[in-house]
Amino acid sequence: MTADLKNYRVLVTPTSFGVSDPALRARLEDEVGEVDYNAGGKPLSAGELRERIAGVDGFIAGLDEIDRSVIEAADRLKVIARYGVGFDNIDLEAAREKGVVVTNAPGANAASVAELAVGLMIALMRNIPQAVDATKAGGWPRLKGISLEGAYVGLVGFGAIGQETARRLAGFGCPIMAYDPVIDEAAAAALGVEIAAYDDVIREADILSLHAPLTPETHHMVDADLLSRMKPGSFLVNTARGGLIDEAAVLAALESGRLGGVALDVFAQQPPDPDNPLLAHPRVIATPHMGSHSNSAANAMGRAALHDCLAVLRGEEPLHRVV
Ligand code: DGY
Repeated sequence: MTADLKNYRVLVTPTSFGVSDPALRARLEDEVGEVDYNAGGKPLSAGELRERIAGVDGFIAGLDEIDRSVIEAADRLKVIARYGVGFDNIDLEAAREKGVVVTNAPGANAASVAELAVGLMIALMRNIPQAVDATKAGGWPRLKGISLEGAYVGLVGFGAIGQETARRLAGFGCPIMAYDPVIDEAAAAALGVEIAAYDDVIREADILSLHAPLTPETHHMVDADLLSRMKPGSFLVNTARGGLIDEAAVLAALESGRLGGVALDVFAQQPPDPDNPLLAHPRVIATPHMGSHSNSAANAMGRAALHDCLAVLRGEEPLHRVV
C-alpha cells in the first residue's frame, strides 16, 4: 500500500533549496501535507534541530548538526536526504539503529566544487585577492605570480569532484597526479592523470588539492608530518572538509615558508572563530564553504534530495542510499 504523503511533514534546512528552480519547492509542497523551511540562512545546530524535529517525516538536510540527540528526538522521521554529497554531519549509526534512511547526492555539485578549486588555485598563485585589494585602494602593484602552466597539481581524492577538477585543469598545461585508495584507473587514463602513491603526491605537488571525505581515517590527514614532506613554498587548497587539516600545523607551515599559500573554503569550525589566525594571514584565501553555491549545483542537489526524500516516504528504494 502506498503511503498518503499528505499526512507527512518535511523539514527543509538548506536555504538555497528550490530558489533558482522554484518548481522543486512547488513539487514538494504539492506532494506532502506540510513543509517547514529554515528561514535562518544557516545550518541548524543540534539544539535547534531538537526543537524542530518532532512530527517531521522527511528531512532535506544541509550541513546541519544531525547528531544522535537529534535522531533520538525524532518521533516520525523516516528519511534524511542530504542536499549534497558529504554525510559526516550525520550520526549514521544512530540513524541505522532507528531505521532512518539516509541518502545523499553524489556528483550533483562536483562541477561546481571543481570550478571553485581551480579558481582558488589561480587566485592563490597569481595573488588575485591581494591585487584586487591594492588596486581598489589606489595602488598599482607589481605582484610576482606563479603560473599554473608546468606546475605539478596533486589531487588527494579522485572521486567525482577530484575527476571534475582534473577535467577543468586539462587546458592549463599542468601535470596532474592523483591518489585515492580506490582509484578509478579508467577515469585517470581518460583525463591524462598520473596515478601515484600518497607519499609521492605529497612530495611532488606544487599545489595539493584535497577532495576526500571526512572520516576517522582522513581526520587531520594534513598534519605537521605531512606538511614537512611537501615542497617548500607549495600551495594547499581545501574545498572538501575542514577536519581534513590540522589548522595549527597549517599556520606553522605558512609561517616557516613550507607553504607558499593556502586557500580554504572549509574550516574545522564553521563559521570560523573571527580570531582564527588563518583568517588574518596574508597568504590565506578564505571563503565561506561555497563550493556548491551555484545555480546548477543547487538545482542538481535539490532534484536528487527531493527525489530520494519522496521515494522513501512512498516506501520505495531511494537512488542514493547511504544507510
Ligand atoms: C557537500 O556536498 O557535502 C557540500 O559540502 C555541500 O553540502
